[in-house]
Amino acid sequence: MASQIPPSSSAPHNRPREIALRFLAEPLDANFGGKVHGGAVMKWIDQAGYACASSWSGQYAVTVYVGGIRFYRPIQIGHLVEVRAKLIYTGRTSMHIAIDVHSGDSRTGQFTRTTHCIVVFVAVDPQGKPVQVPTWVSQSEEDLALQNYAVKLMELRKGIESEMARYEHP
Ligand SMILES: CC(C)(COP(=O)(O)OP(=O)(O)OC[C@H]1O[C@@H](n2cnc3c(N)ncnc32)[C@H](O)[C@@H]1OP(=O)(O)O)[C@@H](O)C(=O)NCCC(=O)NCCS
Repeated sequence: MASQIPPSSSAPHNRPREIALRFLAEPLDANFGGKVHGGAVMKWIDQAGYACASSWSGQYAVTVYVGGIRFYRPIQIGHLVEVRAKLIYTGRTSMHIAIDVHSGDSRTGQFTRTTHCIVVFVAVDPQGKPVQVPTWVSQSEEDLALQNYAVKLMELRKGIESEMARYEHP
């Protein structure tokens, strides 16, 4: 079940920059330890990121990068899961999206943050060629901090990728 959070005042056009998916963790999502499989969480992250990127851009979009995924807490089968995706930076064709996963027992209504990561999507045309996306402009202190967070991570990634390139082509 997806719900679109109304566009914030910072949206330069009438499209949402945030979405949330809500559903119950099912027995089929379980790993061998009886909690939700990490791979299931990653799939939900990708789905929420796609819904957010395609809503913002009005285009088909592909995942180009998933970074720094952190699993803070396990998710119990039967718990309500909320996957929040929020656009925090746009390049020419890329959209950087912060994802936060919360889960909890719907009977108590107590939720904890279980996972966080940043995903980058690129809008593409039917031939798979990157296409320009509408620019998102931060208009609050909170949004500016998120944008700076995305830019800082981009800088850090350059170091990680050059280190990985040395490994790939020693
Ligand atoms: C996404 C893809 C089309 C980009 O093609 P490309 O030739 O690298 O295109 P470009 O060099 O023009 O880069 C496009 C954008 O991706 C960004 N990008 C490229 N590599 C990146 C990386 N490692 N991390 C973050 N962003 C990256 C670029 O910065 C650029 O963004 P900008 O236009 O906002 O500056 C291509 O890499 C691809 O098809 N990848 C496979 C996607 C896929 O199958 N995903 C899984 C299933 S959805």
